[in-house]
Amino acid sequence: MDTNTAAPILDVKDLCKTFIVNKRQNNVLRNVSFCIFPGEMVAVMGPSGSGKSTLLYTVSGMDRMTAGDVSFCGKDMSKLRDHELAKMRLDDMGFIFQQMYMMKNLSVLDNIILPSVKSDKIKETRRETVARARVLMNKLGISETADNDINEVSGGQLQRACICRSMMNRPQMIFADEPTGALNRTSSEDVMEELTKLNKEGTTIMLVTHDARVAAKCTRVLYIVDGNIKGEYNINKDAPARDRERGLNNWLLEMGW
Ligand SMILES: Nc1ncnc2c1ncn2[C@@H]1O[C@H](COP(=O)(O)OP(=O)(O)O)[C@@H](O)[C@H]1O
Ligand SMILES: [Mg+2]
Repeated sequence: MDTNTAAPILDVKDLCKTFIVNKRQNNVLRNVSFCIFPGEMVAVMGPSGSGKSTLLYTVSGMDRMTAGDVSFCGKDMSKLRDHELAKMRLDDMGFIFQQMYMMKNLSVLDNIILPSVKSDKIKETRRETVARARVLMNKLGISETADNDINEVSGGQLQRACICRSMMNRPQMIFADEPTGALNRTSSEDVMEELTKLNKEGTTIMLVTHDARVAAKCTRVLYIVDGNIKGEYNINKDAPARDRERGLNNWLLEMGW
């Protein structure tokens, strides 16, 4: 997709986020500006504590911003009321986290269909919802885990279940915070393969990672230091994987990684 001619799906201008803890002000995000265009897969990297998770949470409306403008699919998020924001997040955004946040008393399948059960975006019966979930699970190779408790499956299987869950309401964009952070190398590669596939099928993705191998599979990398974007790097998608990783690693060294 030619990303330069399309309107941004996410447009962030002068975003600030301040936490006040024990009367101390912590300016975690300081005038952050960037755009993400439809079809992109953007990695956010940077030192621990630099504000990566905070950035992901504020631009996706999980947390309110202190100042600035964020628009998602052309809608100004600061103007949305809580229930409108919740609806936007449920219907148009998908979320994947390192900690997964699965409900312990539900089966893997029931966890996956939960967002659809809560949303009226897609008009369908429960049976149709379950059928869609099973198609997604099949695609991600976890069909056999449907009726398991979430503590009966591996970390890699559970993270793939999270991807299924994030896809159920056919989101415009997926936000992922260290989705491979708790996985071994093989599971991590499987999960990245699935995310890359989703992206090629048209889902825009923003993901935080500390793994250059993961970031090298994206289309662009933002590097954040002390709540500011210090640099950005376009991945040459036509280059072989090894060259993409080498190029990115060289740039990360320049950034002080
Ligand atoms: N809910 C919160 N309340 C107070 N401070 C927070 C909160 N979330 C994050 N912070 C602070 O914001 C800074 C950046 O944290 P975070 O965004 O988690 O960094 P990263 O994901 O890059 O490691 C840290 O100093 C952290 O203590
Ligand atoms: Mg983080």
